[in-house]
Amino acid sequence: MCGIVAYVGTKQCQNLLLEGLKRLEYRGYDSAGIATLENGRIRVVKTVGRVANLEDKLEEVGGVTGTMGMCHTRWATHGGVTTPNAHPHTDDKSGICLIHNGIIENYASLKTLLEEKGHRFVSQTDTEVLAMLIGELYEGDLEAAVQAALREVTGAYGIVVMCEKEPGVLVAARKGSPLMVGVGDGEHLVASDGSALISHTSRAFALEDYQVVKLTAEGFRTSTIHNVPVTPKVQQLEIELESIELGGYSHFMQKEIFEQPKSLRNTFRGRFVVEEGRVILGGLADHAKDLTKARRVVMLGQGTALHAAMIGRYLMEDLAKVPAVAEFASEFRYRNPIIEEGTVAIAVSQSGETADTLAALSEAQDRGALALGVINVVGSTMARQTDAGVYLRVGPEIGVASTKAFVGQVAVLSMIAMWMGRRRYMGASECGDLLRALEQIPSHIERILATDAQIRRVTEKYVDRENWLFLGRGYNYPTALEGALKLKEISYIHAEGMPAAEMKHGPIALINEGMPAVFIANKGRQYEKVMSNIQEVRARGGHVIAVATEGDESIRNYAEDVLFVPDIPEALSPMTTIVPLQLMAYHAAVLRGHDVDKPRNLAKSVTVE
Ligand code: AGP
Ligand code: GLU
Repeated sequence: MCGIVAYVGTKQCQNLLLEGLKRLEYRGYDSAGIATLENGRIRVVKTVGRVANLEDKLEEVGGVTGTMGMCHTRWATHGGVTTPNAHPHTDDKSGICLIHNGIIENYASLKTLLEEKGHRFVSQTDTEVLAMLIGELYEGDLEAAVQAALREVTGAYGIVVMCEKEPGVLVAARKGSPLMVGVGDGEHLVASDGSALISHTSRAFALEDYQVVKLTAEGFRTSTIHNVPVTPKVQQLEIELESIELGGYSHFMQKEIFEQPKSLRNTFRGRFVVEEGRVILGGLADHAKDLTKARRVVMLGQGTALHAAMIGRYLMEDLAKVPAVAEFASEFRYRNPIIEEGTVAIAVSQSGETADTLAALSEAQDRGALALGVINVVGSTMARQTDAGVYLRVGPEIGVASTKAFVGQVAVLSMIAMWMGRRRYMGASECGDLLRALEQIPSHIERILATDAQIRRVTEKYVDRENWLFLGRGYNYPTALEGALKLKEISYIHAEGMPAAEMKHGPIALINEGMPAVFIANKGRQYEKVMSNIQEVRARGGHVIAVATEGDESIRNYAEDVLFVPDIPEALSPMTTIVPLQLMAYHAAVLRGHDVDKPRNLAKSVTVE
């Protein structure tokens, strides 16, 4: 969840650490801290708030010096958002200093033990317990002390540790929380995400679970927590700087919404031939037989990724003709799920690091399912854990509110459904027609984006209302859920998404004069039914905002405001109907004066359960 950057080399590191940390601020931003080894002593500066607050504090104290250091942005799990709880944490007795991403689950019992040994804690965090434990076990070899401490802990961690007694040595380790090691010339870096490394080096490797790396300016040694040496695979990082910078946009979310035509073209590139009605997904080739014979598909995800998976369920049933379900990974994992022969589990995730989804994926694999990934981040933990998969290729998504990844996930799931359908029953021309429609979607999205000013005006009319409804049916029921989630996440307006038919079973009681109800009312199998649901809301004083199909002029008789989307096959429509909803949420947040890219209480990548 949090951002980690650490450096050991020959350069003064304060500014390069801060620069890296800013790139990771989307991962957590309730407090920030830095520590360097300054003239043989650990010097820590930390504060609540953003990296900008840390910069102010550093300026006040005259900055920190040193050629080895670490910094952190926190997303609090244990203990409130206070300066003592911010990282780095230290054990003054041994001179240990540590930053941590994750949760030490057995921290309470370890804390009691350490208190008995005379340690005094200054924070409420689980992290400080780990710093003290390493200090307690330190006998002149930091790497060995870290390994020994990690053998005692349960939970999730990405950590970086240094010790006053070993200048020039950084030790990092991971279990469950991603860490990348950057290999430079006479310098090494560690970060929770490659984007913080790229301006220094493009050579990097991902640390695996239960691995520890000891870094100096000149070299590194990688081992397990049981001190068995391992050889990591150093690879070329493929991140373009422009993809992690704002360009001319005000916010990453806005940039990513507007990038969708381009990102979707990337998702499609080389993956189908319209004329032949053929879908080419290289990542599935090795398992073609099993997938063709699949008897059931279980799609797993959380948040936006789950909404994409829910659309995937309709696609699998309609286009691949295979029974399918989509489920909260967190619920799947702790049920006693039945996985029969021929079950394919699909993990849907932007980051590929979501702890709930990872755990559910393992559960499905343990029970014999073939595991596919529909993931954005190349080489992420989930991508490495699955048997096969199809990457989204939408580029880094930095806005905490997921947008282009959602459209990419739906696009990939529709291609997988067509790929399977084509091998099971679908003819070339039927598939070709769908692919032709799919190919047009990027330009359809461009047309919707061109109506941004109108979408902003409509949002302005309702932005002071505290309760909104999002309603849709069939393929666009999950779109309604996603529209509501977007609005909640960044504007803090209470919004509920539900199947339009469900209204009259209870929630209709909520409707009062002027309450905005957003209907996804594009042409499709249930169009007439949606019209009836609109009437039910109108009759009770609700204000209807309809997302409707171009040319459907009659809808103006039913809705106060209409946002048009192009006419495309219903099965593919969520990729377009979601766009006006993303823009509404964006404008609502801006109009209400909120920090769109860093919404309160959230973090981009949820690596704790
Ligand atoms: C979306 O806007 C969210 N912030 C969140 O719901 C997210 O989709 C969820 O945490 C899953 O993340 P993932 O796609 O990285 O697995
Ligand atoms: N559990 C730690 C804390 O609450 C780390 C949180 C994080 O990952 O930022 O401080």
